[in-house]
Amino acid sequence: VTTFCDNDALRNNWFVVALVTDIGEQPRAISLLGDRFVIWRSADGELVAAEDRCPHREAPLSAGSVKEGTLTCRYHGWTFGDQGRCLSVPSASKTSQVPVRAHLTTLQVTEKYGLVWLCPGVTTSEVPVVVEDSDPSFHRFNTPIQQWAASATRMVDNFLDTAHFAFVHDVSIGSGINPRVATFDVQPLDDWFTGYIYDVLVANPEEAHSTLGDSATASLVHMTTGFALPFIVRGTMQFPNGVRQVLMLSSTPVDDLNSLFTFAIWRNDDEPEAEIVNFELQIDAEDQLMVEMLDGPLPLEGGRLVSVRSDKGSEVWRRELVRLLVSNVPRQPAK
Ligand code: FES
Ligand SMILES: [Fe+2]
Repeated sequence: VTTFCDNDALRNNWFVVALVTDIGEQPRAISLLGDRFVIWRSADGELVAAEDRCPHREAPLSAGSVKEGTLTCRYHGWTFGDQGRCLSVPSASKTSQVPVRAHLTTLQVTEKYGLVWLCPGVTTSEVPVVVEDSDPSFHRFNTPIQQWAASATRMVDNFLDTAHFAFVHDVSIGSGINPRVATFDVQPLDDWFTGYIYDVLVANPEEAHSTLGDSATASLVHMTTGFALPFIVRGTMQFPNGVRQVLMLSSTPVDDLNSLFTFAIWRNDDEPEAEIVNFELQIDAEDQLMVEMLDGPLPLEGGRLVSVRSDKGSEVWRRELVRLLVSNVPRQPAK
């Protein structure tokens, strides 16, 4: 299963496609799993999502405009309101009915953690719950959506791996640290995430002092790293001064080889946002440089890759992803 984007079962999941603040006055085009979608806000402020294709002559609806929550197609001016209902066909006489099939099939879309989550199929599951989000002692930072020339499968494999710290992050958190990874077990971390718990001695360069709340040359951080299928990774960190940080990394397949990336951070202290976010952006840029060198998607079939004990986290994720992909749920919704 090297190509995974056209997998039907994969579509029945939530994907982060934008920041909430990215959806403004005008319709927004979204590229996801090799298809194009459009998102806009209806008059009551709810998000509306549909395929980015007008039922009339397939013009991209994202090229149209939105006024008072109604989207007008750029090509012949058909208009679409709440729930994607076609409201008017300007070329038709006042008395003729709007064709039934002119209504858009809308998709599940929701807002959580400052992010817009879209399901291009059908899902009954919730967006993974980060419990700190409803804890008033924590506050959240979001960062702009980036596009990486890397497969989401390569990204998640990287985010679940700590054996690369001493190498890929040799100028930041990995500077001079012991490359040996302690033995760990993979287990449910809570109702939403599966992963492992460990302590790691990370380097503490000047730029990390705010994040680690510490100015020693290295800090022992108590961490968990886990995944929620298909492509969400969560890291939790407890620093020596007791401060906790939660990082949620989202990798969304634009197609098999390109992905959207963003992260959200929750913290229970008052360190300045810029320092926390910039340090994490630096680490992620180091990962990006590495995963963009990797050719194609991660081989998902067992036996193609040589894995060792420290790959256990990503191996469990890879097996569960394959199980999801072969679960063979019929593709929906077809009109
Ligand atoms: S293609 Fe949209 S109105 Fe004709
Ligand atoms: Fe990394």
